[in-house]
Parts: sequence; C-alpha cells; structure tokens
Amino acid sequence: MTRSTRSAFLALLPLLAAGCGGAQTSPAAPTGAAPAASASPAPAAAAAPDTGGLPAPTAAADAIQPVTITPPPPEGNPFTGVGFYINPAYVKKVESSIKADPADALLLKKVEQYPTAVWLDSIAAAGTVSKVLDDAAAQEKKAGKPLVTVFAVYDLPERDCSAVASNGELTAANGGEKKYAKDFIGKIAAAFKAHPKQRIVAIVEPDSLPNIATNLDKKKCADAADIYKHSIATAIRELSLPNVSLYLDAAHAGWLGWSGNRMKIVKLYEEVLKDAGGADKIRGFATNVSNYDSLKGGDLGKLQPSDPCPDELTYVQQLDDTLTREGITGKAFVIDTSRNGKAGIRTNSGSWCNIKGAGLGERPQASPAPLVDAYFWIKPPGDADGGADPNKPGFDSNCGPDSKDSAPGAPRAGDWFSSYFVDLAKNADPPL
Ligand code: BGC
Repeated sequence: MTRSTRSAFLALLPLLAAGCGGAQTSPAAPTGAAPAASASPAPAAAAAPDTGGLPAPTAAADAIQPVTITPPPPEGNPFTGVGFYINPAYVKKVESSIKADPADALLLKKVEQYPTAVWLDSIAAAGTVSKVLDDAAAQEKKAGKPLVTVFAVYDLPERDCSAVASNGELTAANGGEKKYAKDFIGKIAAAFKAHPKQRIVAIVEPDSLPNIATNLDKKKCADAADIYKHSIATAIRELSLPNVSLYLDAAHAGWLGWSGNRMKIVKLYEEVLKDAGGADKIRGFATNVSNYDSLKGGDLGKLQPSDPCPDELTYVQQLDDTLTREGITGKAFVIDTSRNGKAGIRTNSGSWCNIKGAGLGERPQASPAPLVDAYFWIKPPGDADGGADPNKPGFDSNCGPDSKDSAPGAPRAGDWFSSYFVDLAKNADPPL
C-alpha cells in the first residue's frame, strides 16, 4: 500500500518517553514460545538484536522521534453510548469461587458487574452465538439501553502454532480450512446477521498473525502461514457487517514493540486486508489479549531495554505510526486489561502463562485514551492460560513447574482456575 493521502488526519505527537521512529532500524524481535492467546516470543536471553550490521538501537536513541498517528473517527467506536453484555456463564464461574471461598464473597461478587468477552473457541461454541445474542437482547430490554456484546473468535486451523496450551480442533490434515470457513465462521456470521439490531464486537484470532510475523522458524507456524492468512481474510470478509466492529489481534508491546516487528505485522495486515476486501472492513486492532503488559510504565522497559515500546499505551501509538506510514489509517485499538493491574511480577518478559501475583487491571470502559476505543476484559479473568500438570491434557511447559513465573496448579487453557481468580481479585489495581 502507498502512504496515506489522508494527511488532514495526521497528527504529529512528540513522544514523551521511550519512543521509536518508523524509519529506525530496530532489532528483529527475539523469537521463542509465542503461545496461547497470551504469547510473547521474547525470552529474556534473546537480547542480542539482529541489527543488520548497524549499531544496536536503544530506546534512548529513539526517544526524540516524533510519532505520526491517524485518530479513528469517534463515531465509529462501538463501545460508546452503550452498556456491556454480562455473560451469565462467566458469572456462574465466579459464583463457584464464591461458594468455595465464602470469606471473600463480598470482594469476588464485585467482579460479576464487569463484562468479559465470550470466547468462540470451537465449532460447538460458534453454535451458541444466537443464544448469547438473544440473551443480550433480553438484558438490553431490562437495562432499557443498548448493550455491546464482545466475542473472541478463536478456532483457526493449526491454532496456537508456536505453543501447545491452546492447540485447537482444526488442522490442515482434517480439512480445517474448509470447516473453519463453513462450520465456524459461517455459523457465527449467520447468527450475527440474524441479530442486526445488536451491537457486536469481534476480536479476531488472538496470537495468529503475530505468530506468522515472528515465529516462522517453528515448522508448525511456517506450514500454517497460508492457512492463517486465508482463514483470517475469510473471517473478516464474512463478519464485517453493519452491526459488527472487528478488531484484529496485534499481540502486545513485549512481542511486536520493536519497529522491525511492527513492520512485519503491518505487512501481514496489508496482505490479509487486501484479500478480505480492504482495510475499511475492520475498526482496528486488539492488543495485550490474554497478556500481562502494563498500560503505562511497568517493568517491560527494564526486562527488554531494547524494546522501544515499554508498555501498551506506547505500543498502540507506535503501531499506529507504523500503520499510518504504510497507509492503513484511522484505526482504533482495544486493550485487554483483565490481568495487567500489577507490574513487576515477571522475571522474563516472555512469560505468558498464569503469571503469579497478577491482578485485575482497569475496568472495561470506553474511550479511555487517545486511539483507544476501550479497555476491555477480553481474557475472562480466572480462565487458565494453560495446564501446569505434565501428566494431564493441556499441559504446556510454559505453564508447568519449570516456569517460575507461573502459578502452580493450573487446569488446562480456558478451564476455571479458582484460586488464581481469587488472587486476581485481591491484587486488583485499581482495587475492586
Ligand atoms: C483457550 C480457550 C479459552 C480462552 C479464554 C484460551 O487460552 O485456549 O479455550 O476459551 O483462553 O479463556
């Protein structure tokens, strides 16, 4: 794509702290495990940057670069002027923790008032969308105001190609690409179309294109690259409807913050969006999905000093800069704040699984910062990232006894991890 001609929308902002210019050569992202809806490919040891012979850039060297952003049209923000759909299936999980831990009932109960995304992680789950939207319509009636329902669309063939925790049901070998288009996306699209009055947000395929951007050294990711790209284009094409706002996954600061990585992901977006019928089909991008990066400050800057994006708010500005320079303009961001309340809990910025000491982050809210449509709890807090028991299905070594940043005792990805949920509530920042 060529550079945008919508220069009227360009805004030059000085970068306050550690920024990064689009033209700056930056380290190829360290690669490594980039797992379950939460991945980060940046093990601590991977600090040696591939600078193509140039001196290694540092955050300080980039600090004075201006950033070019193109703000999204505010009227397109699906989170404004509406309430949020509360998923009763999630409330049930919280209730189970209250039963097990009645002493903390007052605190835990507070979580039930906040919305979480409904994860469509299988063809069976896609079959529940109509019911969810009927339920949302009933909640709307009761509330006397429109509500937005947020889905995470997550059943790509060869899913979670760089890890094992969230490997899915569809593969290349079992005809996954066709099934994904027809039985998964087709079902979801039909349900969305049957509820044209409901306001819907869909977060499209966490971790998928970021894995293709940085983890092609993993055979499973390299083999899946074309299937990912085609399937995501199909998802965008089919789900881009008048009542639906789409956000493509953009990993997080600790994964794609380096300008070289931002360029890689933006090139993939260009390719996929072209195939899907154009960049206008999506409202924007989702960051930090199932991850733990801070909104501002935090510890990423210390753990990854060569990463010019030390936190998510810097990252969305920098990613918007790269997008804008490549001609994808006017995009908005949703940041997952379900578990990023507490910083300083990781010894390795690449740790992503059930991080010990985590707390709930900012409550879901519309328009909290420039470029940001919403903070939202995309990963339902209390759902596990991956299993900790080597002898049980769903085990991932990133979640087990060898991962010192991970809380012990976790069930498989997506299952309820009650003690972890209680800790998230106790560690909430802002407090509940
Ligand atoms: C799991 C999904 C689950 C989602 C939300 C992912 O890590 O693989 O099955 O629905 O998390 O908890």
